[in-house]
Amino acid sequence: MKRIQLDSTASTNAHARTLIKTASQDELFCVIADYQSSGRGQGSHSWHSEPGKNLLLSLVCFPAFLSASDQFSLSVMTALSVVGCCGDLEVEARIKWPNDILAGNRKLAGILIENGIMGTKVSHSIIGIGLNVNQVRFPEFPTGATSLCLEQSRERDREVVLDDLLRHLESRYNDLRQGRHALWEEAYRERLHGLDQTLPFTDGAEVFDGIIRGTSPQGELLVERDGRVRAYARHQIRLKS
Ligand code: BTN
Repeated sequence: MKRIQLDSTASTNAHARTLIKTASQDELFCVIADYQSSGRGQGSHSWHSEPGKNLLLSLVCFPAFLSASDQFSLSVMTALSVVGCCGDLEVEARIKWPNDILAGNRKLAGILIENGIMGTKVSHSIIGIGLNVNQVRFPEFPTGATSLCLEQSRERDREVVLDDLLRHLESRYNDLRQGRHALWEEAYRERLHGLDQTLPFTDGAEVFDGIIRGTSPQGELLVERDGRVRAYARHQIRLKS
């Protein structure tokens, strides 16, 4: 896969976007940076990362074969790749739906996917991944963040982690291209943070106890509440803890 390696950029997702029009649509490519001056997170959040410590990358693909209604599979592909890469390094990571990767209760990686839709298909996808590798202090999240290094008390060679992560992503993208992503469902469900546990949720109006039972093919979270399983879209529900 073509890699564009930068010392510094505002955001690898933003940089990747500028390359989409001139890129060959047959191939994947990725933009990697040592530092982002305006790293972007979910919603209006930003993503901070010490220079040269972590992995900051955006994978770009052109999955014109994928229906827009199936775009959650890009999130599943990415989350399973990050979890798989962490597993290869003996760090057990879980997926906090929809886009956070946790070790224990702390955030190890974040995912920001920006899709372009043309008609009923996904014309391009910019898959931004921030994986904390060697950073050990997180001023913005004094207790909420972690890194591979904090989990294992040893530094990692970022190149080795990157190679492994890209290997997982490429292999899963090939599965997706060949329509084999339905096979990921169980693996994804099993790695969901909080699966089958009673936890406090909020839907904006109230706080209630619910049990995560899985996700729908469209990417809604299936939560059992008062004995009935309901599907919640992204902004309709949030774990309180
Ligand atoms: C989140 O959890 O809020 C998502 C964080 C995504 C961060 C990555 S770092 C590489 C890519 N470029 C960005 O500007 N953001 C994503």
